Amino acid sequence: MKEDNIRNDISEKLITREELNSKVKELAARINNDYKGKKPVMVSILKGSIVFLSELMKHITIESSIDFIAVSSYQGGTQSTGIVKMIMDLRESIEGRNVLLVEDIVDTGLTVAYLRDNLKTRRPASLKLCTLLNKPANMEIDIKMDYLGFKIPDKFVVGYGLDYQEKYRNLPFIGTLKPEIYRKKIK
Ligand code: IMP
Ligand code: MG
Repeated sequence: MKEDNIRNDISEKLITREELNSKVKELAARINNDYKGKKPVMVSILKGSIVFLSELMKHITIESSIDFIAVSSYQGGTQSTGIVKMIMDLRESIEGRNVLLVEDIVDTGLTVAYLRDNLKTRRPASLKLCTLLNKPANMEIDIKMDYLGFKIPDKFVVGYGLDYQEKYRNLPFIGTLKPEIYRKKIK
């Protein structure tokens, strides 16, 4: 029987654990500086951004809080359906707060645009975006990425919170899947 190790499904490591660690520290340092005295609420977009948020917040030294919001646009495939659904809303009010949206990846931009428009109606003092990854090739909407980790090529990636059909989120690096993993799905 084949060994049960999800790393066997990875064809290419795109971003290593070390590169992720140092980028996260760099972003946190900028946030610490920009949000001094502003008590930001960092809003993690579930589920993909939980690893990024938890790594990032360890390096945040200013007073801050976290909250969660869940949306879905993929429904299990590797292409955005274009329809964004709110699955779970924030616990706290963001009126008058400095909100920093924390996302794993901006692909078409539809998810973040939807959330940006939705959250703006709640009158936050400010609303900014921190995303670990961006695929510039797929952007359909103009999105301001105030804090961006890495621009990546137009490849479907997994790990560090990102999934393929709910798998691979626990990989400590960002990688691409072997083509036969997708083929299995089509059969
Ligand atoms: P957008 O709405 O097209 O920008 O897509 C954003 C969401 O799609 C992200 O929050 C991810 O959950 C998911 N997504 C986009 N690209 C990838 C990828 O390469 N791997 C895993 N999930 C992705
Ligand atoms: Mg996501």
